[in-house]
Amino acid sequence: MAARSRSAPPVCEHFGPKRLRQRLGALDFSEKAANRQPGAAKGAGIPGSRGPYETDRFHPYDVASASLWGACDSDFADREGPMRTLLLPFSARFIAYTAVMVITAALLVELYFSPSPMVAVPLVLFFALAVIGTVDLIQTRHAVLRNYPLTAHIRFILEEIRPEIRQYFLESEKDGTPFSRDKRAIVYQRAKQALDKRPFGTQDDVYAAGFEWLHHSMAPRPVAKENAHIVIGGPDCAKPYAASIFNISAMSFGALSPNAIRALNTGAKKGNFAHDTGEGGYSAYHRENGGDIIWEIGSGYFSCRNEDGSFCAEKFEAGARSDQVKMVELKLSQGAKPGHGGVLPGAKVTAEIAAARGVPIGVDCVSPSRHSVFATPIELMQFIATMRRLSGGKPAGFKLCIGHPWEFLAVCKAMVETGIYPDFIVVDGKEGGTGAAPLEFTDHLGMPLREGLNFVHNALIGINARDRIKIGASGKIVSAFDIARAMALGADWCNSARGFMFALGCIQSQSCHTDRCPTGVSTQDRVRQRALVVPDKSERVYNFHRATVEALAELVAAAGLDHPTELTPAHFSRRVSAHEVKSFAELYPQLKPGELLAGTRDLRFASAWDMASANEFRVLPMAA
Ligand SMILES: Cc1cc2nc3c(=O)[nH]c(=O)nc-3n(C[C@H](O)[C@H](O)[C@H](O)COP(=O)(O)O)c2cc1C
Ligand code: SF4
Repeated sequence: MAARSRSAPPVCEHFGPKRLRQRLGALDFSEKAANRQPGAAKGAGIPGSRGPYETDRFHPYDVASASLWGACDSDFADREGPMRTLLLPFSARFIAYTAVMVITAALLVELYFSPSPMVAVPLVLFFALAVIGTVDLIQTRHAVLRNYPLTAHIRFILEEIRPEIRQYFLESEKDGTPFSRDKRAIVYQRAKQALDKRPFGTQDDVYAAGFEWLHHSMAPRPVAKENAHIVIGGPDCAKPYAASIFNISAMSFGALSPNAIRALNTGAKKGNFAHDTGEGGYSAYHRENGGDIIWEIGSGYFSCRNEDGSFCAEKFEAGARSDQVKMVELKLSQGAKPGHGGVLPGAKVTAEIAAARGVPIGVDCVSPSRHSVFATPIELMQFIATMRRLSGGKPAGFKLCIGHPWEFLAVCKAMVETGIYPDFIVVDGKEGGTGAAPLEFTDHLGMPLREGLNFVHNALIGINARDRIKIGASGKIVSAFDIARAMALGADWCNSARGFMFALGCIQSQSCHTDRCPTGVSTQDRVRQRALVVPDKSERVYNFHRATVEALAELVAAAGLDHPTELTPAHFSRRVSAHEVKSFAELYPQLKPGELLAGTRDLRFASAWDMASANEFRVLPMAA
């Protein structure tokens, strides 16, 4: 092979077949040929691998486009034979483009000699394809299009519809993330009042590690007819709330569409359960239908903020005193993105939301990751007391995903020191959902629900506060078994976010952050929102709740109990290996009442308790 003879390539003054042949002269563009090069590295010429094809030689298509569109290197002609250049348009990669160009030319000639619509129509089509193929060749953003003009679009189309293909054609009952097809199906069936039974037997591998079950009784109890409720509100609460044991988890107006908020709230009203506003504010859509509201405020203090973004006590008081608001909740963190403020992508910040939140239109609305109303555990407790007072004595509490154990224990110490106790704490699991969050946060930050929940439950037992503080739990809870298990580990009630989204018709397409929700659940696009018909979907919300609570009542009765609050760790077992099964009572041992105050030796708590201080969240050096 001739060596490069010139250092700087001349610029083409024109191009034409002859010129192109000269330029591309001796090249062999086939991948086989690239692998035949003397001294070619292993894998050279294979797309995606590094070798002479891509690096120390050149990319054939780059050569073609360079020659076609201007910057030529005349020494290419010296390298390969003219035959190979002539065959280039007929190589597999370019054949579609070549065919389109040839057909376009043929149609042009045909039109010239015998004009007719029968020729004009296909000509327009092929001319459009020819333009697309040529643009593919010269554009510089997508390597695969430069190399496979026209045909590479098939790849992009398939990539686009890959989730649908997987979901509709390939997924088994147990496949699908974050929620398997099976789990979604049970929600859809209950929401639509369709048959929710399964034939033939379990599809779970009951001998696989991780399999869990509830112990049934030889003397089942009658199934309770009444929906199970619990009373939330400690001794300092003037207006305790009788809550359902299953409620709608926090999801903001903004993350969800107005119609979704309306349907959730109407369903909650009909079923006598609660609807958490999420941190996006207590909006007009929450108020329309009168369902019970838990008003959540986050670090953005939406619906109760001053112009500078700080908390406005007057606005909070005005909203919290509404009869519809049954509890007030301070959001510290959420499992899907703990330590990160709320995120509403700019695409969803419409004029209406911008006005409601007091932020610019179309710009990402990111709440601060920390609150301005407190800086220490003691101040946190004081703010909870403020919220309770401003709301007129309604249950006040906070929601968090557990991070550093000593920080939660610091809050426990603050409770003991100040004598201010929240009425409730909602523990959110790492596995919980979100409208939008960074991948690293959704995948790697925060304690999963079962560990976090059991930790909080035991910490409150350890400071003798468990009887005055109710615990809510959230994180992938959609079935009656999920609720029962959470209640056995310490929850008094459960919340579900995505479960209720499925009831609204969500198909888990996971494009909530793009404002292109196909079902109208999580979009601010007015046309897409109409897909969600409020009267129909509110019935489904109601049905899903009712059927799930009824299924829970059946489970509880089968375990020989009268109320889900009677469930304890001893009622559940988990296979921890192929040969070993452990009771939840062994896996999640319980502290004794007051054990933290007395000085515990339990390794899960002892050093974290020593490190915790009611005066700061900072990590303290461990006692020597
Ligand atoms: C669309 C969407 C929006 C959410 N918005 C909030 C929010 O504003 N505040 C909050 O505390 N949690 C929010 N969450 C988290 C849920 O309230 C809950 O903590 C978590 O999703 C529970 O998991 P689940 O979806 O598996 O039920 C949101 C979740 C989703 C799916
Ligand atoms: S259908 Fe898709 S985009 Fe809409 S709420 Fe469900 S997961 Fe989000």
